[in-house]
Amino acid sequence: MTQHIDPQVIGELNPPNRLMLTPGPSSMDPRVYRALATPLVGHLDPWFKGCMDDTQVLLRQIFQTENRLTMPLSASGSGGIEASVVNSLEEGDEAIICVNGVFSERMAVIASHTAAKVTKVEAPYGKPVDAEDVRRAGKGRKIKIVGFAQGETSSGVLTQIEPFRKVADELGALLVVDTVASLAAVPLHVDRERVDICFSGTQKAISAPPGMSPITVSPRAEEAFRNRKTKVQSWYFDLATAMNYWGKERLYHHTPPVSLIYALREAMRIVVEEGLPARWERHRVNQLALIAGIEAMGLELLVKKPADRLPTVTAVMIPGGIDDAKVRNQLLDEFNIEIAGGLGPLKSKIWRVGLMGHCSQKPYVLLFLAALEKTLLDQGFRVPSGAGVGAAVQSYTHARTEAVGVSR
Ligand SMILES: Cc1ncc(COP(=O)(O)O)c(C=O)c1O
Repeated sequence: MTQHIDPQVIGELNPPNRLMLTPGPSSMDPRVYRALATPLVGHLDPWFKGCMDDTQVLLRQIFQTENRLTMPLSASGSGGIEASVVNSLEEGDEAIICVNGVFSERMAVIASHTAAKVTKVEAPYGKPVDAEDVRRAGKGRKIKIVGFAQGETSSGVLTQIEPFRKVADELGALLVVDTVASLAAVPLHVDRERVDICFSGTQKAISAPPGMSPITVSPRAEEAFRNRKTKVQSWYFDLATAMNYWGKERLYHHTPPVSLIYALREAMRIVVEEGLPARWERHRVNQLALIAGIEAMGLELLVKKPADRLPTVTAVMIPGGIDDAKVRNQLLDEFNIEIAGGLGPLKSKIWRVGLMGHCSQKPYVLLFLAALEKTLLDQGFRVPSGAGVGAAVQSYTHARTEAVGVSR
């Protein structure tokens, strides 16, 4: 029998006010909450069509592209992976997917659901894949796509785009780049770097709610889609028909999440007001301060080479004898701060601290380091008093003097 519960017992929704220093979702600016709460209109309302125009203009600005096919998919970031591979791959095609973590592995898994042949080129978690290995793997073969994650969120690794573009050119392949964890936080120029298919997620450095996946497709990739011999295996993610709605005609395809589009529009206005170069620099400087603090506390990072560190996600090795969950639970219960644990082979080995979008702020870095010191001390790990905050303050002071050209 269906259980009936009095709504008074369930109570009005009243979530805790967390500081989400996770690898996504990130905390949101109050302006984005206000946009979410504005009145709903129909998805074919003439006013909403203007709102869609704004959304696409802002998306193109953030991706730095003039691609016609640019829109937010009604899906989380995984939907962006799915759309990228199912539109580009069919029977007879070959794909090379660079795997250095859980999310790039997901791209390989989703590609394996198509009829194409998929080759994985791997690197250990904590390092980027070597483009030279992709060149070797593709030699003498006809490759349709080369795919990788610019930001691998499971390990906090950044991969440079240029060497992969070069190899993809040699192989005659389209370049597919996952920027779920990097868009609006890490330099990216879709047109200049000639990325053919680029997708992201709204809940990370854009700091909008989860549930949408912005995607942009180059004219060359669009042509490859047109030249397919078979139908795209997914109706929902067939970008040609989805673009009937996001293109000039604005024809019904499916009912999009109107309120999420409002929120995304406002979050992107905030990104563009700040300016991309300033935003990239903010993420860089805050991560440097976080890292200075973490290392001063005697903790180690998973990603050893500074150039390989993704500014939005810092992977911290959990010291021996310290319980992963106890630390994370104490941070949550005592300080209302959420960080994440490791995924897959890195489970219980690392903490992942996210400084994404709205959360990449100096006060949050300093608060987190102080909270972590208290928590580690309570859990029996000896930390030199105030070392984390002190080192972060030094890092900020150094960054500021560098910026104004003061010699010390
Ligand atoms: C790099 C990367 N790709 C894809 C995804 C999948 O996104 P979602 O969880 O929104 O489906 C994530 C999620 O964390 C991610 O970090």
